[in-house]
Amino acid sequence: MHCGWAQSWSPLVVMLAIWIFCPYYYAKSNNKNLPMKNILAQPLTLPCGAVLPNRISKAAMTEGLALPDGLPTPELNRLYGLWSDGGAGMLLSGNIQIDRDHLERPGNVVVDRKPNKAMRTALASWATAATRNGNHFWAQISHAGRQTQKIVNPNPKAPSAVKLGLPGGQFGEPVPLTKAEIKSIVRCFGVCAAAVKEAGFTGVQLHSAHGYLLSQFLSPRSNLRTDDYGGDLANRARALLESVAAVRAAVGPEFPVAVKLNSADFQKGGFDFADSLQVVQWLEQAGVDLIEISGGTYEQPKLLGVAGMEEEEKQQVAESTMIREAYFVDFALAMQNKVSIPLMVTGGFRQRLVMEQALESGSADLIGVGRPMCVMTDAPNQLLAGLDELPRYENDLALFPRWLSFLGAFKPLRALATFAVQYWYYEQIYALGHRGEADNNLTVLAATKQIMAREKKLTAK
Ligand SMILES: Cc1cc2nc3c(=O)[nH]c(=O)nc-3n(C[C@H](O)[C@H](O)[C@H](O)COP(=O)(O)O)c2cc1C
Repeated sequence: MHCGWAQSWSPLVVMLAIWIFCPYYYAKSNNKNLPMKNILAQPLTLPCGAVLPNRISKAAMTEGLALPDGLPTPELNRLYGLWSDGGAGMLLSGNIQIDRDHLERPGNVVVDRKPNKAMRTALASWATAATRNGNHFWAQISHAGRQTQKIVNPNPKAPSAVKLGLPGGQFGEPVPLTKAEIKSIVRCFGVCAAAVKEAGFTGVQLHSAHGYLLSQFLSPRSNLRTDDYGGDLANRARALLESVAAVRAAVGPEFPVAVKLNSADFQKGGFDFADSLQVVQWLEQAGVDLIEISGGTYEQPKLLGVAGMEEEEKQQVAESTMIREAYFVDFALAMQNKVSIPLMVTGGFRQRLVMEQALESGSADLIGVGRPMCVMTDAPNQLLAGLDELPRYENDLALFPRWLSFLGAFKPLRALATFAVQYWYYEQIYALGHRGEADNNLTVLAATKQIMAREKKLTAK
């Protein structure tokens, strides 16, 4: 009788156990909706099999520390050694350019051909320093297109002859790429990826956000082509997808390949959220391991949470109940319904609770942290040890004192003020690379003067 009771109840017990434990195992195997404590410390397994040791990544930040010919330097090694000690599961390099005539900024690392011995050695030392704590170090590979400054190239190549809409004359008139030149750029992405893999980098990310070349192709505002690289979205995404394929062919199936993509450009008639939802699905089909979600361009710097030159174009996305701090979590949440590959979300994360909420809700699988790392290099370790909130330097930095803040109403001055604040971060990165510590007394004005003088020197022929 006792046995009979157990027999009649056992299917129920088994079903109950499945109901309780299945979501846990599903979540674990899928890296999503993790119900665990200390979620930031959980490893993340990527489709290619690579494992990131935790859920915090240092976001890509241009360093400007390379030699004029694009060679990495001991200063880059010092900087990335510090960041590796800081506890992030993954460090993304700043823009590494695949074409020396299209730098995002003087002082970029450039890998635009099969490296010679000096380049191989310099890349390898950089990778060794940046991985000294067992974290990942990925190369962000990029081409600046029309966002190349005039001091680097007065007539940069771009999808179409559409000049950047910024006042100040910093950017020249672009020249449309021929199809043969596009094919050559696609090949260069592959060459660069193979070189960084050989040097000891542990992953690669194609930069297709923030208005750089691949993002220019995606936008109907900057891409007016009538050949098979322009027109409908499938054509506008062709340069990106061909570049992804070239990179995958160069690095093989077991090496992480990622893409940084805008959730939207937030500009009227630009790359919008519906486009982005489609592109993430194509990227998943193309075998990408991780997509980093950001947004905006130089004209509309939403990536930094800053107002642009024109009114922001609102996007159709369901508003979640998550705390309003990080800029792109709602977009990422909507994307998670379309793809199953991991998403990294970057922009505005400062509170540990908000990061945990993004991971727990399934919105993000990896949290990108940028600006705080320019001073607090061990921000990830501090968060993992329980720090509640990272510093918000952005709240206190301004080119103009408060009583002159009305000057921001004038577009040229607003653009200058946005760049000047960026220069403060550039200069902190310079200080970390040269002296191993941030500069506590740095002002935005001093940083602007120093950066401008240095960039002029780097581009002096
Ligand atoms: C100084 C600085 C340099 C940056 N350079 C790059 C870059 O090289 N590539 C890139 O994709 N994003 C770059 N960004 C954007 C960051 O990766 C990130 O998207 C942005 O700072 C928002 O994150 P945060 O709010 O945590 O700072 C840069 C941002 C800053 C502040």
